[in-house]
Amino acid sequence: MDRSYPVKLDLKKVPTPCFVLDESALKRNLAILESVQDRTRCRILLALKGFSMFSVFPLIRQTLHGICASSPHEAMLGREEFGREVHTFAAAYSETDIHKILPISDHIIFNSFNQWHRFKAMAIEYQRNIQPDIRFGIRVNPAHSEVEIPIYDPCAPYSRLGVLSDQFQGQSLDGISGLHFHTLCEKNASALKRTLTVFEEKFQDYIPQMDWINFGGGHHITRNDYDVDLLCDLIINFKEKYNVDVYLEPGEAVALNAGILVASVLDIVKNEMDIAILDTSAATHMPDVLEMPYRPEIFQAGQRAGQQAGQPDEKAYTYRLAGLSCLAGDIIGDYSFDEPLVVGSKLIFCDMAHYSMVKTNTFNGIQLPSIAVYKADTDRFTIIRQFKYEDFKNRLS
Ligand SMILES: Cc1ncc(COP(=O)(O)O)c(C=O)c1O
Repeated sequence: MDRSYPVKLDLKKVPTPCFVLDESALKRNLAILESVQDRTRCRILLALKGFSMFSVFPLIRQTLHGICASSPHEAMLGREEFGREVHTFAAAYSETDIHKILPISDHIIFNSFNQWHRFKAMAIEYQRNIQPDIRFGIRVNPAHSEVEIPIYDPCAPYSRLGVLSDQFQGQSLDGISGLHFHTLCEKNASALKRTLTVFEEKFQDYIPQMDWINFGGGHHITRNDYDVDLLCDLIINFKEKYNVDVYLEPGEAVALNAGILVASVLDIVKNEMDIAILDTSAATHMPDVLEMPYRPEIFQAGQRAGQQAGQPDEKAYTYRLAGLSCLAGDIIGDYSFDEPLVVGSKLIFCDMAHYSMVKTNTFNGIQLPSIAVYKADTDRFTIIRQFKYEDFKNRLS
């Protein structure tokens, strides 16, 4: 299975709770993405919504062409800290948003013709007088579902994300140079292949008028079983057929298996079973565990493909792992271990670099995890940031 923990890291050095980015794993992911760019001449952007650890942007920008942002704040972070292309998309913009994103975006993608018409004059004037290189696009919804979990399916019934093909009727595409679709989540290239077939069929009248097409995110390119050859074939064929630039904007694939969350046991209580209370929390440090929901892999519970190692009673000592917050349902899951847990035991939650660090919150005033980098080649562990009371207080007034 995919390597998910830098085994040489000495946990004694790690204060908890702490996200630790494994730099060598990030480099491994970047090498795979670089090979896709080299083979296809597509441009890959980092989706900041999935991974925004800007202290490693200097490394990522050596490979990736830029970032995709979901808000003015992400666009600003991308402009300030990444420094290459900034592509901005949001479900809707306010006039204030447009004033903020125009000067810092290379591509602005609109989610509806209403929004495009509302801001078109401003956008075209900006392009004409200030930034001739800025480009505008429309997000489309091919209405082809590949994602099983409805809250992660942008093509689910009644989705607000993207313009349906019949809504293009009678619309002028003057000023629009590209189309964007995002329909996938943790998918292999076969899902992209099926999506492209539908996209081409439904938008065949418009694709030839475009200079670029953005294939969105959700491509699990750096996963062991991902069909990189098929992805490359799809991109190469599409580019040749339509003579367009192709962009991909993965988040998860950039940081997949490239970081862990280390936590400590604070107490063990009993209520028909042993319950270990940790200095982390599903609700505040890994909300996807509750939202998706999923059971994170824990290094000490063993590793098995499918993330199901260390089931209750599989090993000698079973515990419910629970969070620090007041939420009764702040439960990470039930796991078993070969050794008993004691106060102070450290546990490693695997694959926590993406969609955890960006989603933390300070509910209950719970301490945010520190952020650190581990370089396996030099065995160097560096804490980049530790959060304080002021970080909690500054979000309130
Ligand atoms: C528009 C858009 N682009 C890119 C992404 C990144 O997706 P992933 O991190 O699954 O690759 C998302 C995720 O929700 C998205 O909504």
